Amino acid sequence: VDGFVFDVDGVIADTARLHLAAWRRIAEEEGLSFDERVAGELRGLSREASLRRLLDGRQIPPEEFAEITRRKNAYYLAAVESLGACDALPGAEKLVRDLARLGIRCAAASASRNARAVLERVGVRGLLEAVIDGNDEAASKTGLHRFLLAAAAVGVEPGRCVVVEDSAAGAATARSLGMRVVGVGDPAALCAATLVFESLRGVDARILLKWLGAARSPSASLTTIRQ
Ligand code: BG6
Ligand code: MG
Repeated sequence: VDGFVFDVDGVIADTARLHLAAWRRIAEEEGLSFDERVAGELRGLSREASLRRLLDGRQIPPEEFAEITRRKNAYYLAAVESLGACDALPGAEKLVRDLARLGIRCAAASASRNARAVLERVGVRGLLEAVIDGNDEAASKTGLHRFLLAAAAVGVEPGRCVVVEDSAAGAATARSLGMRVVGVGDPAALCAATLVFESLRGVDARILLKWLGAARSPSASLTTIRQ
């Protein structure tokens, strides 16, 4: 392993709950159903894909669609305003620092167009060699997925790169791209991951690299580390 690509919302910053709170408010305002299952499925989806999932096949005019995504983003940004260093998730910053000290290239890749602002607010931006956010992915002429753009930005081949993700969608995509995956959160949802931790708190960089080195193929069997 030569590189790590960290997701931001739900891995580095405690912001997945803020996205979900904003969508829950939209669902209430728009009379759309919102439960735990929907909440799990929204994790890691882009703003537009999230609204399509909430609409569940219902068609609305494009202007209305755009207005709802703008309103959701305004709710989310209002919550981001009050973020600070205490909203970095436990263990993430230390893991980035320790991996970097061991010569591992560390980047962040997020579907969110607000990821840079979030990284700044929680104080982790300066530790990462590269950040690819939702804007970069959309603007990329190559059409490559953000995980591949992030691996390229730190000069590491995808097969030698590990993606750290809290969403089922992100973990499955990383694995399909030939990358090993460290899942953070619910092992039942993160079945595409090589290893799953309930949280990054206390995760030792050297031991992690050893385990991941043993799991050479991204499809190596799942191990769940309970803490
Ligand atoms: C992902 C979040 O990181 O970013 C999703 O997990 C969110 O919940 C997505 O929808 C897009 O974020 P934004 O800030 O561009 O609306
Ligand atoms: Mg996430």
